[in-house]
Amino acid sequence: MRSNPGQTRRLTQMKQPPANPGHVHRSLQTPTTLFGVEFKNRLGLAAGLDRTGRLVGERSKTGIGHIEIGTITNHADLERQRADSPRRVRVGISIASSRAGLDKDVVEDYARLSRKLSRWCDFLVVNLSSPHHARDGNTPGIKCLVHALMAERYTHQQSHHVPLLMKVAISGGTVHLPDAVRIARDMTLDAVIVATPCLHVLEHATRLLGNTPVISVGGIKTIDDATRRLEVGAALVQIHSAYAQRGCAAIAELLQS
Ligand SMILES: Cc1cc2nc3c(=O)[nH]c(=O)nc-3n(C[C@H](O)[C@H](O)[C@H](O)COP(=O)(O)O)c2cc1C
Repeated sequence: MRSNPGQTRRLTQMKQPPANPGHVHRSLQTPTTLFGVEFKNRLGLAAGLDRTGRLVGERSKTGIGHIEIGTITNHADLERQRADSPRRVRVGISIASSRAGLDKDVVEDYARLSRKLSRWCDFLVVNLSSPHHARDGNTPGIKCLVHALMAERYTHQQSHHVPLLMKVAISGGTVHLPDAVRIARDMTLDAVIVATPCLHVLEHATRLLGNTPVISVGGIKTIDDATRRLEVGAALVQIHSAYAQRGCAAIAELLQS
């Protein structure tokens, strides 16, 4: 996900209106409510750090506001003792198919995972950032996938709808956002996790998404990195490498700002 300097420069030079002033004073420690879920702060652990949920109890003590478990491709992989752990932390579950592409069998894989796993989490994340499975934010079939998951939700979650999010990785400093971003906005998904280290791309995505909340992941190591993401409109931020390299110290530093 390295940015192309030429493209990034062109994007920087484009005239853009000032960021929504409502976004400017967000801070990492501020509690917030998004898609009906209360978060005690705006910092989370990204998918890939706890693939089964085994570590949620332990990591909930770090002060982190949310943890995205997964990506899970087989529902039996989820370790469900999490359900009994104290709700100090919000938990999302990232799901994907282990098959390649996005045909109807793959859509059914996602739907089955949603059916089995929704009850164990505060929000569900449809992961489209799977280069190894030839699936990304431009793969044809995303609308069918979202339709199927929404239908699943109406059929199986009548009393309580689990918020449905999508994760899209955007490589380089491109101005052309993946189709999934527009689809998520038009089909009113609850939020989009935008994986990019490039601030301009993130800003472009938050503008396009309008009222759809954005969670930023990618390249966040310092308080400044996180604050810039919030300033351009991200509602929450997530870390992966910073935690993998420095553990709880990374969380403590980010939250002490
Ligand atoms: C070793 C490794 C495993 C990952 N596994 C997943 C995964 O299973 N699902 C997912 O959505 N993202 C996964 N990611 C992507 C991270 O969640 C995150 O989007 C990316 O690392 C950028 O954040 P960072 O710059 O803080 O590392 C993985 C990343 C790494 C480095």
